[in-house]
Amino acid sequence: MQYVLEVKDLTVKQKGSFQPLLKDISFTLKKGEILGILGESGSGKSLTALSILGLLPKELYYEKGQILFNGMNLLTLKEDEFAKLRGKEISIILQDPLSSLNPVLSIEEQLSEMVKFHLGLNGKEGKELIIKTLREVGVPDPELRLKNYPHELSGGLRQRVMIAMGIVCSPQILIADEPTTALDLTIQLQIIALLKKLNQEKGLSLIFITHDLGILRWLAERILVYYRGEILEIAQTRDLFSNPLHPYTKLLFSSYPGKGERIFLANTLKGDSSNGLSYCSFYERCFHPCDKSLREAPALMEVQSEHWVRCFQSA
Ligand SMILES: Nc1ncnc2c1ncn2[C@@H]1O[C@H](COP(=O)(O)OP(=O)(O)OP(=O)(O)O)[C@@H](O)[C@H]1O
Ligand SMILES: [Mg+2]
Repeated sequence: MQYVLEVKDLTVKQKGSFQPLLKDISFTLKKGEILGILGESGSGKSLTALSILGLLPKELYYEKGQILFNGMNLLTLKEDEFAKLRGKEISIILQDPLSSLNPVLSIEEQLSEMVKFHLGLNGKEGKELIIKTLREVGVPDPELRLKNYPHELSGGLRQRVMIAMGIVCSPQILIADEPTTALDLTIQLQIIALLKKLNQEKGLSLIFITHDLGILRWLAERILVYYRGEILEIAQTRDLFSNPLHPYTKLLFSSYPGKGERIFLANTLKGDSSNGLSYCSFYERCFHPCDKSLREAPALMEVQSEHWVRCFQSA
């Protein structure tokens, strides 16, 4: 099996705090796969993305674990080595392009910087690649748009420019962290269809982070279910919907209205993310907690082929 990314036992803490924000996160990403990360607000989805990109906020640190990119442990890289990889091999698109695009640089200047730094392309060659990429992501009249500044573009176009920045250097992995939440529904669907097309046509491996079960059902091949900094379940999308094993996943899906309709994990479900527990993190919310789960924290176990669950009763 060819994994482009393997995360092993990743544990992230805040300096001076005992409780981890990410605890023993382990998963794989296959080449050309679309992997979904589902979880309520504060469950650790963005921290996982930032960890993979070596962009953890200063007050946080990696306590243990490995992040293997084609077998190379990213956590051993120096910052200048990481900078060469970021945007070139692994890219991220964020929810709010206005805060990720530089407001004082034109679209051309922002994209030129990237192709110059990562690919050494200047002048005409660089410009041709930029225009081709903008066209690929559905920016109309890219030659004219190059001169625009981010605030001059609509939300949908800005998000397309972000995607262009994410793919212009042909990365192997693209992480999309709730890239459509701020957009209206039609534009959301267009952006998601675009990401799927890039996955199919370019073999891009994609990690898609969202609260939206409906999007993941349609888009993702496998799904990771996050809760309080842990992964509670990993399964093929079809298996997860037809046979959810963890009580938390069952709870989420019990309110899922079915094909064609969409539900979101409400931000009001927000839990306390910190989990330094020596018992099951879902204990308080479980309908039928077992005695063992109060004495011990369950490990993530593969109970069926490619179906993993962190629950004594489902194992
Ligand atoms: N710089 C930081 N310092 C301390 N704690 C942090 C920091 N960044 C994030 N956290 C905490 O880590 C936890 C996980 O945050 P994260 O941003 O990964 O959540 P998320 O799953 O992406 O949520 P959302 O769906 O709201 O984006 C949260 O409880 C958050 O408060
Ligand atoms: Mg987030």
